[in-house]
Amino acid sequence: MSAKVAKARDRFGNFGFVLAAAGSAIGLGNIWKFPYIAYENEGGSFVVVYLLAILLIGAPIMLAEVVIGRRTEQSPVGAFLALAKSSGTSKGWSWVGWLGILAGFTILSYYAVIAGWTAYYFVKCLGWSMSGFTPEIADSLGPSFGAFLANGWLQTGLQVFFIAITVGVVAMGVKGGIERTTKILMPVLFAVLVLLAVVSSRTAGFSEALNFLFHIGPITADGALEAIGHAFFTLSLGMGAMITYGSYVSRRQSLPRAAVTICFLDTLIALLASLIMFSIIFSVPEAAREETFTKSATILFTTLPRMFYAMPGGAILSPVFYLLVSFAALTSTISLLEVIVSYFIDVKGWARRKATVFVGALICLFGVPSALSLGASSFFSDLTFKGNGGFLSIVDYLASNWFLPLGGLGIALFTGWWLAKNLSRDEIEIGHGKFALYGVWLFLLRFVCPLAIGWIIWAVLGGRSFA
Ligand code: TRP
Repeated sequence: MSAKVAKARDRFGNFGFVLAAAGSAIGLGNIWKFPYIAYENEGGSFVVVYLLAILLIGAPIMLAEVVIGRRTEQSPVGAFLALAKSSGTSKGWSWVGWLGILAGFTILSYYAVIAGWTAYYFVKCLGWSMSGFTPEIADSLGPSFGAFLANGWLQTGLQVFFIAITVGVVAMGVKGGIERTTKILMPVLFAVLVLLAVVSSRTAGFSEALNFLFHIGPITADGALEAIGHAFFTLSLGMGAMITYGSYVSRRQSLPRAAVTICFLDTLIALLASLIMFSIIFSVPEAAREETFTKSATILFTTLPRMFYAMPGGAILSPVFYLLVSFAALTSTISLLEVIVSYFIDVKGWARRKATVFVGALICLFGVPSALSLGASSFFSDLTFKGNGGFLSIVDYLASNWFLPLGGLGIALFTGWWLAKNLSRDEIEIGHGKFALYGVWLFLLRFVCPLAIGWIIWAVLGGRSFA
């Protein structure tokens, strides 16, 4: 097919792309963040708006990213430059690619810190399961989590550890590293989540959890905005991660089908994870619950262990659960690293191994302030910006509120208005056949996505934070 390419581009195999892309999308955003923001927004209608955002904004931009990626066989910066050359769009669009690299760099540096917590709690739970989870341990979960956060060496060490594993996988290449890892991890993750869901369906809190997630209740504008912002983060959109993965997809695959499958799996896992967490938490008497959720962002580590060990089989399920969350985080950090690494490979012509180690080292360094901003260093912990306290929250705010929505806006506008229609239609129909929804897709990209994202940016400028 691409006979003139001297060195054949590494490619995903049959199910490789969908699994790797689902692995990228499914991560801490689904298991850690979605349940707590759903709780804060009182479930119900928030979930409905989130589902609409996935369908009307997420899915079309997902397809746009993979179309750009497969057409150009380049990672983001190279992709926009290549399109400028071949179809006369302006080279200036490569700002979207650059912003993506900046976003990847930023997100990976703090995401690895949180991912490190999940790996650490896996080991901790193993210890508890073997030596017994005493009432004293249960009572000290909150304070011991605080002490853990404030341990700068441990935080930095875990972050470096997580990036080192990520570097190891990415250095092995697209098929030999990324695809092989996700092919093992993703099915395990599905299996364990389904198992946990079955277990949670027998808890006392299950029906309340179901009702909480799916009842129709009031929805605020803020809640709706948060749902849209989260749709970007959870689907790994807006920074060209899917352009990069799309550049390794074979021309035999149907891109629309793949995009829909990825969105579906990501949503399914977010809902399953919420159902599991809420079932466990709603099994606790109401009076004890409020305090549980006062720091909703940390329930995964301060409340969940106690609940696991209070339920039958918990001694086995709890380490398995944290291992699973680490897996989910790993398949996401892999994709974040791949975006930056592929820039050095595609545009700069570096060898994969050299690029991976170089970028990994840089990110470890940049992650140190985040790792130290949870209490270890008062300088980094006390920094504030727009209501976000600590370096980690600030970089998360910048990435989620600015880089991703702006990148997503760029991709929607570029594909909707600038990219030649015959080109996008042609690429979509390769491996798919006639695409009946082409007009709908274009309409969503041209009008619905820009208006919705514009609304987010307007709201953020008005002081609303999505982080
Ligand atoms: N989607 C992942 C999650 O939900 C995080 C992630 C991985 C991501 N790659 C990304 C977010 C690219 C934005 C862009 O945890």
